[in-house]
Parts: sequence; structure tokens; C-alpha cells
Amino acid sequence: MSHTVIAIVASTPRPTLAIGRSLKNEMPWPRLKSEMLYFHRVTRRVPAVPPNSPFKYINAVIMGRKTWDSIPTKHRPLSGRINVIVSRTAPSSSSTTASTSGELWVRDIEEGVRLLKQKFPVPSSETPLVDDGGEPVLALHQIFIIGGAQIYKLALELPKTSEAYTTCILHTTILKPDYASEEDVDVFFPAIDDNQWTKGSMNRLIEVTGEEMEKVGGIREDADVSFEYGIWERSL
Ligand SMILES: NC(=O)c1ccc[n+]([C@@H]2O[C@H](COP(=O)([O-])OP(=O)(O)OC[C@H]3O[C@@H](n4cnc5c(N)ncnc54)[C@H](OP(=O)(O)O)[C@@H]3O)[C@@H](O)[C@H]2O)c1
Repeated sequence: MSHTVIAIVASTPRPTLAIGRSLKNEMPWPRLKSEMLYFHRVTRRVPAVPPNSPFKYINAVIMGRKTWDSIPTKHRPLSGRINVIVSRTAPSSSSTTASTSGELWVRDIEEGVRLLKQKFPVPSSETPLVDDGGEPVLALHQIFIIGGAQIYKLALELPKTSEAYTTCILHTTILKPDYASEEDVDVFFPAIDDNQWTKGSMNRLIEVTGEEMEKVGGIREDADVSFEYGIWERSL
């Protein structure tokens, strides 16, 4: 089974695509509870398996070390997902293991994807299932690239032949206020090139995310910020 790789981001509208304040290593907007819940649901959603199945699906999130640092300690690793952190100082591939709290540290995105596939293969009917004390074996479903700017850029530049080729961007556009005009907003998502990416319909967003129309349709408001959910798909 092939695992899809999806980037998920919230940014100001094109062409600016601002996503952060580098000095504070934070997002430009206040905590948007409904958007955070959307991120939580979408990145955790997996196909159901029959009751008593010896395995269950799990998704993975891949992020840069600075994004990892920006998550409050009590909220990391992000629950219900395998957390993969990309850092130049991660141990080399041969010695990479899950840390005590369960996250994987890697030196590049492709190494992360390789390790995920190795460690969490989807069992076929012939695969003997080994468990530790009755817990279902974890099988990888989807991989999400969750930022920041450096990691999005690396991910989106990977060629089609790469196992980490990203086919889709789940893009929350922050419409108002105009954060891009603030001086310290200086971290940006890479340009979305119309020759490579096509904006998908709301139905397509619903199909990919498993969300319901009432939760994702139209312009949304939260904490005096207005935003809308969208999707871009790779046309090349
Ligand atoms: N709006 C959104 O949806 C969203 C999402 C995520 C993050 N953000 C924002 O984005 C900002 C953080 O983004 P960022 O671009 O500064 O940092 P980042 O991409 O999260 O992490 C950068 C780190 O990744 C590692 N890295 C980068 N290139 C590498 C390479 N070629 N090989 C190996 N490791 C590499 C390095 O870690 P080491 O230094 O450890 O080597 C580098 O310091 C924050 O403001 C955050 O709030 C926004």
C-alpha cells in the first residue's frame, strides 16, 4: 500500500503565505481553537478496522526541530500520531530509535518516511503479527508534513520519484486581520506555483480530510480572525 504525504498549513493569502514570527518561534495569529481541532481531527483520522483486529492504523506528522520546540512541552509529542522531527543533529539513521516519549528524530524527511514504512508496515494477510501483551500492532496510514517553513520547502522540492513526494496541501487561509503586514511576521510557506498545483473543490477537501461540510465550508470566525479551509493538489 502506498502512503500519501500531505502538507498541512495555515497561512495568510497568496502571494505572501506568511506562517510565523521567527523571533518568537510562533504563529502570527492567536490560538484558533476550531482550527486546532480541525488539525487534530484531520491528522489523527484513520480507517476503521474490525473489532479485535490485531493491528490498527496510525498517522505520522513530520516537523522541523523549531516547530517541535514551538509546541508546549505538555502537548508533545502530539498525541495519537507518530511524531517525526527533522534535525541536523539527529542521530544517524543506523542508530535512530524512538525516544522514550515515542518520537523519532531523523536527519531528513526521506529518512523519516523510510523509517516510518519500515517500523510501521501495513500487515498483509501473510505477515505474522507480533504484539506486546495484546496491544494491536500499529500500521502507518497517512503522513502529514506540519512545518515549519524550512521543512515545507524541503518537502515540496522533493522529486516525484521520492517516497516523500507530497501530493496535496491542506491550506487554511487566514483572511483577516492582515498579519502579513506586521513587521515581525517573517516566516513564509513556499510559493504555490499554478503550473504545479490546482485548487481543489470543497467536496475534494471533504473527501481527503473526512470532514463534514458544516465543519469546513464557508468563511469561519474564531478569536476575531476569519479564515477558510482549502486544498491544493499537485497537477504534475
Ligand atoms: N502556520 C503554520 O501552519 C505553521 C506550521 C508550523 C510552523 N509554523 C511556524 O514556523 C516557524 C518555524 O519554522 P522554521 O522554518 O523556522 O523552522 P522548522 O522548519 O520548523 O525547523 C527548522 C529546523 O529543521 C532542521 N532542518 C532544516 N533544514 C534541514 C536539513 N536540510 N536537514 C536536516 N535538518 C534540517 C534544523 O534543525 P536543527 O537546527 O536542530 O538542525 C532547523 O533548525 C515558527 O514561527 C512556527 O510557529 C507555522
